[in-house]
Amino acid sequence: MKKRVLFVCLGNICRSPSAEAVFKGIVENKNVADNFIIDSAGTTSYHIGEPANAKMKRHARKRGLDLTSIARDFDPENDWDSFDYIIAMDNLNLKNLKNMARNATDLEKLHKMTDFCIRYDYDQVPDPYYGAVELFEQVLDILEDACEGLYNHITR
Ligand code: 4NP
Repeated sequence: MKKRVLFVCLGNICRSPSAEAVFKGIVENKNVADNFIIDSAGTTSYHIGEPANAKMKRHARKRGLDLTSIARDFDPENDWDSFDYIIAMDNLNLKNLKNMARNATDLEKLHKMTDFCIRYDYDQVPDPYYGAVELFEQVLDILEDACEGLYNHITR
């Protein structure tokens, strides 16, 4: 059975598309991409249909990551059943998702990205949208660490 992973942030244009690309890179490097379905979504509808944020894309590109996702919103009617791991980027998204959970099974699928960090100790992935250059780099540092931890968690 394929493991199905959905990364969720607010707009689905900065953090979750980056998490999606980082995690796809990890499973491709390990030659196990066929064992996974990896996607991302947002808990707000502001940016539906948009490609990833240009600044986020530029920073990701410097690390060899292509952000190809088109923003969509989290769909509680389908996404809870279509994924095994639903990974919130921060405490607000975690709360938004908790409010949309239909039952205990949904809640068991829900995790926070930074809980999988190995080297770093952050409470959440900061929102870079209005932030400086350093924040975009920090987001990618956290995501690279947390995605490695998530991969270990899923395949342990
Ligand atoms: P993301 O970043 O949740 O990482 O995609 C944001 C994108 C847009 C907004 C906030 C955060 N916004 O307020 O429009």
